[in-house]
Amino acid sequence: MARFIDELKRTHRCGDLGAAEVGSEVVLFGWVATRRDHGGCVFIDLRDREGITQIVFDPSYRPAGAEATAEMVDGAHKLAEQARPEWVLGVRGVVVSRGANVNAKLATGAIEVHVVEATVFNRAETPPFEITDDVDTREEVRLTYRYLDLRRAPLQKALRVRHRINQATRRHLSDQGCLELETPFMVKYTPGGARNFLVPSRLSPGRFYALAESPQLFKQLFMVAGFDRYFQIVKCFRDEDLRLDRQPEFTQIDVELSFVDQDDVFRLIEGLVFAIWKEALGLDLHELYPSGRFPQMPFEESMRLYGNDKPDLRFGLPHVDLTELLIEHDGGGVPFWKDVTDKFKSGAYRKDLPAEIIKAIVVPASANLSRADSDKLEEFVKGMGSKGLARAKVAEDGTWTQSPLAKTVTQAAREAINAACGAKAGDLLCFQFGRESMVQTVMANLRVHLGKKLGLIPSHGHGGKWNFLWVVNPPLFEWDEDKKTWCAAHHAFTRPHDASLPDLEADPGKVLCHRYDIVLNGFEIGGGSIRLHDPEVQARVFRALGISEAEAQEKFGFLLQALRMGAPPHGGIALGMDRLAMLLGGAESLRDVIPFPKTQKGTDIMTDAPGTVLPEQLAELRVRVVET
Ligand code: AMO
Repeated sequence: MARFIDELKRTHRCGDLGAAEVGSEVVLFGWVATRRDHGGCVFIDLRDREGITQIVFDPSYRPAGAEATAEMVDGAHKLAEQARPEWVLGVRGVVVSRGANVNAKLATGAIEVHVVEATVFNRAETPPFEITDDVDTREEVRLTYRYLDLRRAPLQKALRVRHRINQATRRHLSDQGCLELETPFMVKYTPGGARNFLVPSRLSPGRFYALAESPQLFKQLFMVAGFDRYFQIVKCFRDEDLRLDRQPEFTQIDVELSFVDQDDVFRLIEGLVFAIWKEALGLDLHELYPSGRFPQMPFEESMRLYGNDKPDLRFGLPHVDLTELLIEHDGGGVPFWKDVTDKFKSGAYRKDLPAEIIKAIVVPASANLSRADSDKLEEFVKGMGSKGLARAKVAEDGTWTQSPLAKTVTQAAREAINAACGAKAGDLLCFQFGRESMVQTVMANLRVHLGKKLGLIPSHGHGGKWNFLWVVNPPLFEWDEDKKTWCAAHHAFTRPHDASLPDLEADPGKVLCHRYDIVLNGFEIGGGSIRLHDPEVQARVFRALGISEAEAQEKFGFLLQALRMGAPPHGGIALGMDRLAMLLGGAESLRDVIPFPKTQKGTDIMTDAPGTVLPEQLAELRVRVVET
């Protein structure tokens, strides 16, 4: 062992060698990926993070010019006979051309290394799964042995993408005058936003820190403190229900800038995204966006056409909102629709009652959906809690077939709907109606489902398409159905549009604000806002939210105080770094790009976290576990 590492230093990595090195003596360290014993000669694929090199143990090999005693070569061969997958080896040998016998699957396939001396640094137990690119093993097993899973090429690649994103980010944002500054993880709980993880305090019994869901308040304080431009690649913690694109601890590229407007933020982030794509994929996004700018879409348009604020613009299939049209047609002869329009006419269609809408999506005739296919669409929407999917096939003369709607819909309504939808013979109209939130969610998911089914987007990966979009100008307030009050759609420190200020009192639902999301292929990859630094407008926003001065002081006291101490106009954004890594790597889940992720249930099966703690620890913290 001492000779390797101490005397024999590694000369190359296992992905480095090619024709240029033929004849050189090299030292490689790595793991046994595969081993084949051809009686006499043993062949091992030696793996490290850079690749694989075939190494050959031939007991009769005596190269000229290399130190190769019979004892060394024989010893190496014996060792190779015993070696097993995942053993850790060091070898010294000579690079030999494979001539016509090139292995096209390996980057180093033109050569092999004939070993003259070897050592075993460590043996390995038989791994629970083979370390190959495509493993057919349950995810739980892979997560239990995550360090083995991480040896696989796809994960090695994914973590390198993270490295590149981080490097490009640091370079670009530093060049743009942003300082990389840190903020605390253990913070005071402030209401609103995501649910926090809580940390009991031993020194202040009965009191808790919250784990920061983002550096939001602190980065604003950096602006008040005059740091002007800040960034941080930072862990954030949110106790949310998990999905493929959501983890309880995740990484943000967090940015805050003073003396900027929305467009200044966009330009900085567009430059950053271009730099990341160049670094991670070698792709110059100017080929797709010659102006260097990403398109923008008002929030309202995004909701109307796509049912959510993160539309996948790699394909069309927009929604058609028929609510107003059917109000004009008094429900168009269809009882379900008349229910919706009657509610509107009776004045029940107000923000303080469930708003109901009617939407359609057109499946083009070219999709050639069979009746069974269209029944499957109904199954799909039922899986999302919808009662069903009303459908109608459009005939040559514009009448509807294969549909109960056809019996009652008035000719005028049908013609108006066909025109609004641009429906042609053979097209299938799919309708959804009811509570706005349900209709939007179901139709948004149905659109993406159809996009995949009709081959408009790949069911995996991104098909080389990168459709970025800024979704802008959303409402400042949302109606809270349960509490029957207005609440901040994002947070109470977002700046309203100047033109909307009169509506703060007159019609809060109409107030638009300087909040923005950046969307890529149907994923929200970032969001931010221009902040509200004017105490007077701030007070009006709190009034609209029904928050008293005392309550505001109690909830946000230190920030309000800071904003009164000479806060510059400022704004910022945070990009979801894990989501960027997932999209750049064509992965399906954040778990495929986070080194040590949590499961769907928020657990780490490898370390068995969260775990129990000793009664003494709980006593010290004055915490009692209540069995339920
Ligand atoms: P926001 O809450 O929109 O904004 O978060 C910013 C971005 O972080 C990513 N993200 C997540 N990624 C993985 N798992 C999660 N649980 C998760 N939650 C969010 C998303 C999202 O767009 N402080 C504000 C930013 C600002 O206003 O400057 C904030 O945190 O990609």
